Amino acid sequence: MRNVDVLLHRDFVIGTTDPRLFGAFVEHLGRCVYGGIFEPDHPTADKNGFRQDVLALVRELAPTIMRYPGGNFVSGYNWEDGVGPVARRPRRLDLAWMSTETNAFGTNEFIDWCRAAAIEPMLAVNLGTRDADAARNLVEYCNHPGGTALSDLRREHGWARPHDVKFWCLGNEMDGPWQMEAKTPEEYGRIAVEAAKMMKWIDPTIELAACGSSGRRMPTFGRWEDAVLEHTFDHVEFISLHTYLNNYAGDTAAFIASCDLMDNFIDEVVAIADTVAARRRSDKRIMLSFDEWNVWYRTRRGRDARVKPGWPVAPPILEEIYNMEDALAFGGACISLLNHANRVKAACLAQLVNVIAPIMTETGGPAWRQTIFHPFAHFSNFGRGRVLRAVIDSPTYTASYLDPNGPQDLYFRLPAVPYLKLAAIHDEKAGLLTLFALNRSLTEDMPLQVRIEGFSRLEVAQSLQLCDADLKAVNTKEAPDRIAPLRRGELGR
Ligand code: AHR
Repeated sequence: MRNVDVLLHRDFVIGTTDPRLFGAFVEHLGRCVYGGIFEPDHPTADKNGFRQDVLALVRELAPTIMRYPGGNFVSGYNWEDGVGPVARRPRRLDLAWMSTETNAFGTNEFIDWCRAAAIEPMLAVNLGTRDADAARNLVEYCNHPGGTALSDLRREHGWARPHDVKFWCLGNEMDGPWQMEAKTPEEYGRIAVEAAKMMKWIDPTIELAACGSSGRRMPTFGRWEDAVLEHTFDHVEFISLHTYLNNYAGDTAAFIASCDLMDNFIDEVVAIADTVAARRRSDKRIMLSFDEWNVWYRTRRGRDARVKPGWPVAPPILEEIYNMEDALAFGGACISLLNHANRVKAACLAQLVNVIAPIMTETGGPAWRQTIFHPFAHFSNFGRGRVLRAVIDSPTYTASYLDPNGPQDLYFRLPAVPYLKLAAIHDEKAGLLTLFALNRSLTEDMPLQVRIEGFSRLEVAQSLQLCDADLKAVNTKEAPDRIAPLRRGELGR
């Protein structure tokens, strides 16, 4: 391939990454909670039942904020079931994942886990089967210091200090027909604004994310965001976005191009949010919470295929095994998020453990890193700072990407995909400039020529590369480091 040229200047900046851009997600789904972060009988479990081997990998992965408890699960969740003496907590049928929820783990345990991991909690409220009243009660239970029935109940349950949860999601994917009590944008907008008002009356310091549509491919996309923000604009800080990349078509070039559709999606949601602002002559800017993103397609199933006899507890579902090409597409998604640091102020990799996750465990056994673990760890550890606006001169290719999930099969045309996808982050405090570069050629190396202006002195401190001749190679319990970053010096390997 011919030289690919990149031009950067210290003063040409897109924005500064918010620490919340590097979040992840724990849902009551499969073995994410039970057998994932929480397994009291595991040899490494502490007194709270938290797996320490998983916690060690979480620290290395370095997520900053954690969304909980769903996802689809939250749309049928009674938060009251998951607090108080464990022996008295009810077992319930979970209609999101067709399994039995024991409620052995709930909000207070999640907060303790977040504190142990030094991660900010992000809670979602149920605006499916529940309403604004249940939502405001949960805020009072969590955040009010004491002296009321609900805050004293928390104290009685053993948590004297308020949890002080700052980031709240107003439901989940409420336009999805698969959701318990899915809603029209008008129905959702009304309930969301009423919930938002009361939640903030209880605790004015919280920040709220309204549900955007479940994906760009949804027939509701666009009109949904517009209508929902018409209702909620004055009461929320964020609108949410969700994307799962796939390679259903077996077209690797299109797959690793598909992260560019996330760029379009972000630009479109920004345009809609700013249109709502313009209609009101408002200078308020709604920020984006990309609170579900990942590669996911092999273990995606409709509800009928989810039904297992006997309503199992924590069944091993959505246990996607990630390969090398998934890590490439995933790395591209990280670059898309970084390059929108001015408007995407929160994001959550869906999910954290076992369920479409960077960390895999065996119940009772070891934990290991999937291929996508590595780009995320680099994204979080080196993505903090000012994102420079890169001018890239790269050859391009065309791709057509199939997104067959949901009500319609859609092909998205990508007429000019640059072989190079890149983000440049300047961490002023650490004195580091990090380049995240994805070579999307499946056959050729890419000689990169980078001109960097405005810095007095630069030298290469470290160079890491994730690559493998076998794009289908995976990490397993037996070979957990089959795919791992190579350092400078090892690069010739
Ligand atoms: O992350 C898995 C599921 O994907 C979530 O529960 C839901 O919100 C989305 O459809």
